[in-house]
Amino acid sequence: MNKQPIGIFDSGVGGTSIWKEIHTLLPNEDTIYLADSANAPYGPKGKEAIIKLSVKNTEYLIDKGCKLIVVACNTATTNAIDYLRDTYNIPFIGIEPAIKPAALQTKNNTIGILATKGTLSSALFSKTSGLFASNKNVIEQIGEGIVELIEAGELQSEEMESLLKVYLKPMIDANIDYLVLGCTHYPYLIPLLVELLPSHVKIIDSGEAVARQTKAILEKNNLLNTKTAKSNNYFYTNGDPSIMKSLLGNVYNIEYLDFYFF
Ligand code: SIN
Repeated sequence: MNKQPIGIFDSGVGGTSIWKEIHTLLPNEDTIYLADSANAPYGPKGKEAIIKLSVKNTEYLIDKGCKLIVVACNTATTNAIDYLRDTYNIPFIGIEPAIKPAALQTKNNTIGILATKGTLSSALFSKTSGLFASNKNVIEQIGEGIVELIEAGELQSEEMESLLKVYLKPMIDANIDYLVLGCTHYPYLIPLLVELLPSHVKIIDSGEAVARQTKAILEKNNLLNTKTAKSNNYFYTNGDPSIMKSLLGNVYNIEYLDFYFF
């Protein structure tokens, strides 16, 4: 039994899509979520800059007593998780695009992946893609500009719709049957993506798998919190807390959380 909180960080509000899955599967666990919105997006930054920001976020969460850290950002995972694991003596859970399940399930042998430049150009992404999807037609698309709009709270704006139409067109033309969301911000777009994609296309993200992996690692390391009292969930942001509040409130119907500025 370990009552220390789970730490979760992202370049902004997107990782709350992962927080929600973790909170649903592990409702007894206290959590601290860190949104580095002032430095979003991480996607276009170089590896060194992403490692530096990930170190800063990690140290903030370790100072707050976190027992395990979920890097709820694909770009930070694919560029910095090896460094974090080599440097700090606590478990780290990363988020990788769900290429494997999409490659295993596609009937058309054609899958689309929408992710940031930082993720798609990373060595870890090439390795995963080569391992599981080398015999598939993988249509990769950088989602330039999407994270900025989500950070501004624009999930359904005309600008968002126009961008997505452009990004999805090559995938629709190639007849994908699976779309992998390779950025933790993108699950907020699922309602709009469902409208824009042909009905046979299935959308996959990594949220539930990450929550299951978090539980497994806590169990393996004897770190589970087995208390039955309601958990405490704290949200820290260096951006506009009202955006995160409204995302969690409107999209997930979760209210009465504690927000802080860091
Ligand atoms: C970004 O900050 O550009 C996106 C974060 C992610 O890759 O999940």
